[in-house]
Amino acid sequence: MIRLGMGASNSGIEAERQAVIRLDNISRVYGQGEAMIRACDRISLSIHAGEYCAIIGQSGSGKSTLMNLIGCLDRPTSGRYYLDGVEVSQLSKSRLARIRNRKLGFVFQRYELLPNLTALENVILPMMYAGVGHSLRRKRAEYALQRVGLSDRLHKKPGQLSGGQQQRVAIARALVNRPVLLLADEPTGALDTQSAQVITQIFDELHASGMTLIVITHSQEVASYSQRMIRMSDGRIVDDSATPAAIPR
Ligand SMILES: Nc1ncnc2c1ncn2[C@@H]1O[C@H](COP(=O)(O)OP(=O)(O)OP(=O)(O)O)[C@@H](O)[C@H]1O
Ligand SMILES: [Mg+2]
Repeated sequence: MIRLGMGASNSGIEAERQAVIRLDNISRVYGQGEAMIRACDRISLSIHAGEYCAIIGQSGSGKSTLMNLIGCLDRPTSGRYYLDGVEVSQLSKSRLARIRNRKLGFVFQRYELLPNLTALENVILPMMYAGVGHSLRRKRAEYALQRVGLSDRLHKKPGQLSGGQQQRVAIARALVNRPVLLLADEPTGALDTQSAQVITQIFDELHASGMTLIVITHSQEVASYSQRMIRMSDGRIVDDSATPAAIPR
C-alpha cells in the first residue's frame, strides 16, 4: 500500500516537473471602475516541455497580455504563475529580468534588434547579461546564426538586412542562452509570404529538436505547424485543442 502511495505521488511530482509553465487562475486587469478591462480573465493553463502551441484570437482578445505575463514582462493582478517549477507571480522586477534573460527567448513582430550593433553583436548581448565568457559568447553566437542560415551576414547591421533576415537574427538571439521556452508574438506579421515560410520552417525545426514554443499568430500557415491551438476571446481561453499536426502520421 505504502509503495503504491509513493509511486502515485512520485508520478505527480514528475508531471509537475515537466510543466514548463503553469498558470493557475491568472487575471490581468487594466484600469479601474468604469474603465476597468480584464485583459486576462482567470486563465488556467499548463504547457509541457517540447510542446508547440499557437495562441490565436481576435484583436483585443488578450493574446499579447497573456504572452507578457508568460514572458515575465508583466505581473498578474491575481493568480499564480509557475515557470519551470518556480512561482514567479510576485517576484520583483529585477528578479523577473534575470529570469527572462536565463529562461526565456523572445521573438517580436518588429524584430526589436539594436540598430547600431551587428547581427553577431545583437546575438552576443543576452550572453553578456548572463555572464558567459568572451570566447564562448562568440562561438555560441556564431553557431546560433549558422543555425538560422546567416553565417554570411555576421557583421551586417539590421538596416543592411531584409525583414526576414532580421527576424532570423532575432531568433538566434532568443536561442542563445538556451531558454526553456521560446515565445513569439506575431513573428511573421511583418513579413512577405516567402520570408514567413522560412521562419515557420525554423520554428518547426526547433520543435523537432525538443524546444518548447508558444507562438501568437494570425497566420493559418504558422498555426498549422503547431500541435496545440489555444483560442482566446475576451480575456478567456475558449478553445484548447490538438491540431492535425499533432496526430502522428
Ligand atoms: N497597457 C494597457 N492599458 C490598458 N489596456 C490595455 C493595455 N494593454 C492592453 N490593453 C487592453 O487589453 C485588451 C487585450 O489587449 P491585447 O494587447 O492583449 O490584445 P491582443 O489579443 O494581443 O490583440 P492584437 O491581436 O491586436 O495584438 C484590449 O482590450 C486592450 O485594449
Ligand atoms: Mg497583440
